[in-house]
Amino acid sequence: MSLVSALYPALKPWLFKLDAERAHEWTTRLMRFSHSLGLLKPDELPVSTPVECLGLKFPNALGLAAGMDKSASAVDAWAALGFGFVEVGTLTPRPQPGNPKPRLFRLPEHQALINRMGFNNPGIHSAVERLKRRRTSAVVGVNIGKNFDTPNEKAVDDYLYCLKAAYPVADYIAVNISSPNTKGLRDLQAEESIRQLLDSLKTEQSAQEKAHGRKVPVLVKIAPDLEGQQIEALARVFNELAVDGVIATNTTISREAVAGHPLAAEAGGLSGAPVRERSTQVIQAFRTLLAPAIPVVGVGGILSGGDAVEKLRAGASLVQVYSGLVYRGPGLIADVLHAVRKASS
Ligand SMILES: Cc1cc2nc3c(=O)[nH]c(=O)nc-3n(C[C@H](O)[C@H](O)[C@H](O)COP(=O)(O)O)c2cc1C
Repeated sequence: MSLVSALYPALKPWLFKLDAERAHEWTTRLMRFSHSLGLLKPDELPVSTPVECLGLKFPNALGLAAGMDKSASAVDAWAALGFGFVEVGTLTPRPQPGNPKPRLFRLPEHQALINRMGFNNPGIHSAVERLKRRRTSAVVGVNIGKNFDTPNEKAVDDYLYCLKAAYPVADYIAVNISSPNTKGLRDLQAEESIRQLLDSLKTEQSAQEKAHGRKVPVLVKIAPDLEGQQIEALARVFNELAVDGVIATNTTISREAVAGHPLAAEAGGLSGAPVRERSTQVIQAFRTLLAPAIPVVGVGGILSGGDAVEKLRAGASLVQVYSGLVYRGPGLIADVLHAVRKASS
């Protein structure tokens, strides 16, 4: 077992005594430090099972979901832990502080988190400068959004701005229209809004492809709280405009699974075990409705290797984790990679 995986169970009780956001800051710092000392050697990982997807070669099917590394400050360290890909962000055109603290809560009884971070980030240009200096060959996705004070009518300008800035350094770009913590953002999922937004982004993507001689795939990240007809409408637009991929799903605004918990009334998105089943259903629905050439990235409630395999069986080509890493630590990475290898052999 690698040193970091062995240490996590000892560190976890201490980290869980800290405020959740402080614990997150400490772990990121510790990870960067361990990496600088060459201690992040994922020696217990199986020989990875590479995946070809989106025209890219992924060293393995497991990625770090957006939100964990909002500023692209530790991409090399995440890759050294064993992730095949790292999605940084969400990044907005201008830096912004996010919502007032506290804004991140643990619900350990449910292996869940509630967050209303509100896209705290250093701005797209700062992340781009950091990504220029990365050493890893892991795939890096740049997740983009709009500033909180940009009205929805002008949202397309923010996404275009970020797409242009990220294009030279990104392996793929994820368009986040599904965070519940930026007022009105999820309204962009309405059929006409998303058609207009994606039409502009696809046109810019073609222009950038010509300018850079390289196609950077553009994926869309969607919410789990969509009804059947909304899913059908979105899939129709994604097929029509030949979106390169879909990331399903973001956090949920539903509190059904955690009803009665003292923190259930906190505003924000719920992630972890309570979102697992719904995310899998949404993945399955999109897989059925989307053209075969459009891959689905499955995320939501993966806390074990078995959960990851379930997402792949539901039609995901790749998977991502966030909350599972908080509850299971880096041991989750080896667990998922072993299970994926076993399932694919
Ligand atoms: C604290 C926190 C911050 C997040 N920030 C973002 C974000 O900035 N952009 C985004 O697309 N998703 C964000 N997410 C959503 C995750 O990427 C993921 O889609 C969701 O948490 C479900 O996966 P999980 O159950 O493995 O956590 C965030 C999640 C958490 C818990």
